[in-house]
Order: sequence, then C-alpha cells, then structure tokens
Amino acid sequence: MKLDEFLRLNAPEDLAALTAAIAKTSIDVWDSVPFKSGLLTETNPSGETQKAIDVYSNDAFVEALTSTGLVAEVASEEMEEPASSKGSVSVAMDPLDGSSNVETNNPLGSIFGFYSRKLPASGRRLVGALYVTYGTMVTLTFSFGKGVHRFVAVREGGAMPFQLLGVNLRLPDKAEVYGFGGSRREWVPEVAAFWHSLEGKGLRNRYCGTFVGDYNQVLSRGGIFSYPALVKKPRGKLRVLFECAPMAFINEQAGGYASDGSGNILDIEPRALAETSPLYIGSADLVREVENAVSKR
Ligand code: F6P
Ligand code: MN
Repeated sequence: MKLDEFLRLNAPEDLAALTAAIAKTSIDVWDSVPFKSGLLTETNPSGETQKAIDVYSNDAFVEALTSTGLVAEVASEEMEEPASSKGSVSVAMDPLDGSSNVETNNPLGSIFGFYSRKLPASGRRLVGALYVTYGTMVTLTFSFGKGVHRFVAVREGGAMPFQLLGVNLRLPDKAEVYGFGGSRREWVPEVAAFWHSLEGKGLRNRYCGTFVGDYNQVLSRGGIFSYPALVKKPRGKLRVLFECAPMAFINEQAGGYASDGSGNILDIEPRALAETSPLYIGSADLVREVENAVSKR
C-alpha cells in the first residue's frame, strides 16, 4: 500500500498532510547530503557547529510544513525562535539527527513531534510523532496514537514514493541490543553498573552514534537505548521537545517505556525549547530496571 492511501484511511486530515509533506521533503534532504556537507561557521542555540546540510534540512522542512497552512509554529533544534504560521498544529523537530555522522556514512535521521499546544509543551500534548531514517533504506516510522506504522521509499521512475513495510509494530518480548551515548567515565555510577549487567542478560552492544539509528534497532530487536545522566551534566544531552518526547511517544505505542530516570519522559513539562533530559528508552522491563537504580541517587 502507498503512503497517501494509508494516510487517507488511517490518519486525521491535518496529520496526514503534514506526514505527506515530510515524506516528500525527506527525499530532497537525503538527495542533498553528498552536496552539502561543508562546514559553516555559525553555531546552533545549543552551541554545536552547523553544517550546510543542517541548515538545508531545517529550511526545507520548515518550508514544507508551513506551506501546508496547517501549522501554528515549527520549533527546531536548529533555530533560536520557532517559525510561526496560521494553522493549529505545533511541530517540534530535529531536522537532521546525527549530522556529525555524515562523513562516516552512519545512518542519519529526522524527528518530528506534532503537538496540540503552543511550545514548549509536555509530551502528553503530542497527537502524533514521526521519525525518518536515512540508512540502508529511507524509512518513515510514525504513530498518531493508534499503533506504530512504517513505510519505505522505493524508486519508481523519477520519484521515490513510500510503500508500506509494516503496521502495528511492537517491541519484541526478547531484548537483544543496547546502545548508550556519551563517555563511560562520565556516566553516573548507577548507569555504568546497569550497562555492565546487560551482557550477562544476553544483550549485545550495538551503537552507531545517531539517536534515530540507535533507537530504530531497539524497536526492531528489543533492548534499550540511553543517553544517560552524566556526573557533570545531570540533565543529559538530548532535547525533550525535539528528540526525547516524540520518540517516547512512538516507543510507548510500540509497547515500550521511556524514562528520564525518575518518571515517564512524556510527563516532563519543559520550560524552554532546548531543555534536555537524560533518556532511557526501549523495552519496558529494562527501562524500569535502570530507572529504579538511577532514581535512588
Ligand atoms: O542529537 C545529538 C546526537 O547526535 C544524537 O543523535 C546521538 O545519540 C548523540 O548526539 C551522540 O552523542 P555522543 O557522541 O556523545 O555519544
Ligand atoms: Mn539530534
């Protein structure tokens, strides 16, 4: 089944239009990667150096989303202030997750949260979320609150429409993989102890350094991804609005759980657009175990 048909049958009209716009733009972004990997001197609000592809993907998605006439605002990891428009849905996005991995050709991603309130807002205000993988395949994985569904881009003449790969995706019962960001010596000790226990539980370490890629394998194979609390950075690295909450929404729809170490990621009420949080996400039993250890700190 093609994406447009699926969306017509299974999605609210506004989210269907926004998803279609993202799908089309994701192919433009993917096509542009080899041509736009030169460094710019500007930095984004979190202090990371922007590359041309970061700017390109940000502008392309802002344009695609606002031109639907359906969004009230688009907040982005790459912009200090949201772009406002005339519709009613607020979109928070990480337009190119893992962009430091361009040269090494590791997977990249894009993350979108669709909120029913002005931003910043809690994950409980999400009405849908979506992520794109630019890896072996370009895929869209999304939920509008009724299961998680996945599409893959396939060449058809000059175009790359999306075809259905799977509906109602669930985290498998048996957990197989784990991937933790940051340096081991910087993690809080409870995280290091939990990490050491994972091999004993039969899981394998698989880490590519792009949140979307590292989470995507957890959804398929079961397990846990974390960018944990660090001793010197107790609020971690990943942004609540742009990264943690949208992925937590999808993960929960797939039967998993996502925590900040003390409670559900979706319950965080961020006060600023770029607020960060430690993140433990994936199979519910593993996430509860690390949450239990970390919350006793
Ligand atoms: O967006 C931040 C990011 O690039 C994530 O995609 C990734 O999970 C994380 O940083 C990796 O950070 P580190 O290099 O510290 O492990
Ligand atoms: Mn990111």
